[in-house]
Amino acid sequence: MSTVDDVDLGRRRFLTATATVVGGVGVAFVAVPFLKSWSPSQRAQAAGAPVEADISKLEEGALMTVEWRGKPVWLLKRTQKMLDELPGLKDQLRDPSSEEASQQPKYAQNATRSIKPEVLVLVGICTHLGCSPTFRPDVAPADLGPSWKGGFFCPCHGSRFDLAGRVYKGVPAPTNLEVPPYRYLSNSQVLIGVNPETA
Ligand code: FES
Repeated sequence: MSTVDDVDLGRRRFLTATATVVGGVGVAFVAVPFLKSWSPSQRAQAAGAPVEADISKLEEGALMTVEWRGKPVWLLKRTQKMLDELPGLKDQLRDPSSEEASQQPKYAQNATRSIKPEVLVLVGICTHLGCSPTFRPDVAPADLGPSWKGGFFCPCHGSRFDLAGRVYKGVPAPTNLEVPPYRYLSNSQVLIGVNPETA
């Protein structure tokens, strides 16, 4: 009797061990291709790590997009003409002086909402219900009207923002577009997601 029990116990142990090994192999087959399909930078980005943007080839008036924490972040190299238009829009804007503290770091709470006047860095998500506005640098296009000086237009419900991401009065979006934390690593490299060392 006791001999049969011993055999059964030994067999059970063997079966358990076999199942564990097979299970381990199964997990390995599933997990390896999945992890391999992610580059180290993708894994870091998903976790919210800072993202570097190379703006060396960004021409005046052009906009590029990088992804940070699953969100589009725009980098716009503003022309002098674009910058010259900003002060004259004050009366038409809801928060022209960027007083809403949640929408930008302190070092971007200035007339251009940026560290360097010519380079604007913005989270490209409308502050109304989260659509991504379109970049409309064209002045006075037929669909946006003669007073349009260039900016960002949200096609979902018509919110309008200027070329500093400041929201116009009378549109659904309640606040300016968000400026993320960022710092310059060099003249042509911007790191999105961390404040400048001096901030
Ligand atoms: S989501 Fe942009 S206006 Fe509504």
